Amino acid sequence: MKKGRKVLLIVGGGIAAYKCLELIRRLRESGISVTAVMTNAAKEFVTPLSVSVLAGSEARSSLFELGEEAKFGHIELSRSADLIVVAPATADIMAKIAGGHADDLASTVLLATDKPVLLAPAMNVRMWEHASTRRNFATLKEDGIRFVGPVDGEMACGEFGPGRMSEPAEILAAILQFFESGPLAGVHAVVTSGTTREPIDPIRYLANRSSGRQGAAIAEALAAQGADVSFVTGPAAAETPNGVRTIQVETALEMRDAVFHALPAEVAVFAAAVADWRVRNPSASKIKKDGGTGPRLEFAENPDILAEVAQLQADRPRLVVGFAAETGDLIDNAVKKRKRKGCDWILANDVSPGTGVMGGCRNEITLISERGTETWPEMSKRDVAERLAMRIAAQFGDH
Ligand code: CTP
Repeated sequence: MKKGRKVLLIVGGGIAAYKCLELIRRLRESGISVTAVMTNAAKEFVTPLSVSVLAGSEARSSLFELGEEAKFGHIELSRSADLIVVAPATADIMAKIAGGHADDLASTVLLATDKPVLLAPAMNVRMWEHASTRRNFATLKEDGIRFVGPVDGEMACGEFGPGRMSEPAEILAAILQFFESGPLAGVHAVVTSGTTREPIDPIRYLANRSSGRQGAAIAEALAAQGADVSFVTGPAAAETPNGVRTIQVETALEMRDAVFHALPAEVAVFAAAVADWRVRNPSASKIKKDGGTGPRLEFAENPDILAEVAQLQADRPRLVVGFAAETGDLIDNAVKKRKRKGCDWILANDVSPGTGVMGGCRNEITLISERGTETWPEMSKRDVAERLAMRIAAQFGDH
């Protein structure tokens, strides 16, 4: 692990707050420096004096301490660490982050930060299982927030079940894993996935059979190698991947905007099955049957997002990877597609109906680069993703 790592530890107000003292001690023993922020409720469970002494610097808790705010405001505080850890993360803190609240120092720092965030939830089992906490948990995961725990166990309130905070040793292990997290640590990757929906009228749309499985697996595999992943996805049957920032879009134009908003990035992988055309003038009201002929739709070509990014003059990602979904002359078409679009690698796959690739779980890929073609054996989409992520990691070396 690189020396001089910094954690900003936010201590929430729950009985598990006492465990943060042990966590601070262990972090410092591991060579990680700690700055602490306490919520007002946290101060009811553990004293600022204990936290400050163990952290080796004064614990902060007020958004409005003039002297402190002038010296080192909440914005700097939110950006000064390599990782923000919230332990214990109460149901209230989770709700505040999910809702974007900023009514105290802890929530303001969490809203203002551009750094990765790790939560160690701790709450009563009923609170953990409450529909609103479930919703907040799903939202936070979708926003790319990481979690350690909670675990099953007996609680201070006498009940038993999930909601107990992980032990300091487990939280430390998650933090160390984050800091040692693989060859793509510090690399920003944008991944597109899913289909796009192009409206015909408010009810109907054009789309395709893409499940989003390959794109989701690639995003998750890159995150597992330590990359910071922006996952831009159209509608998809696949589950949202873990540990990535998800941006949901619907149309090709929205996908293009979201990708450009997410840039700059070092890596861009375009796994989305983008509709090549959109309806030029979608009807504002439902199109009615007109006695036989059916509506006449006019189409406009969608922007080619992959080609636009691959041909950027400034801030082009170092590695741009596209897919070539073909139903004939696979290699020939894919080689031409790589040149035409200007990307570095193309993953060519045969999506003819008999292959079951579109919408299925397996894939057979030929990787085409400047150096030639390389056919991989048929494997699961997850294995394709892992192999690709390893290749990308190898390409970046110690960047
Ligand atoms: N792609 C994109 N934007 C588009 C169309 C495609 O970013 N408007 C990307 C896809 O994500 C994929 C690659 O381009 O990585 C190739 O997609 P594919 O559908 O195979 O190619 P097309 O551009 O549709 O080319 P053709 O019509 O010649 O098959």
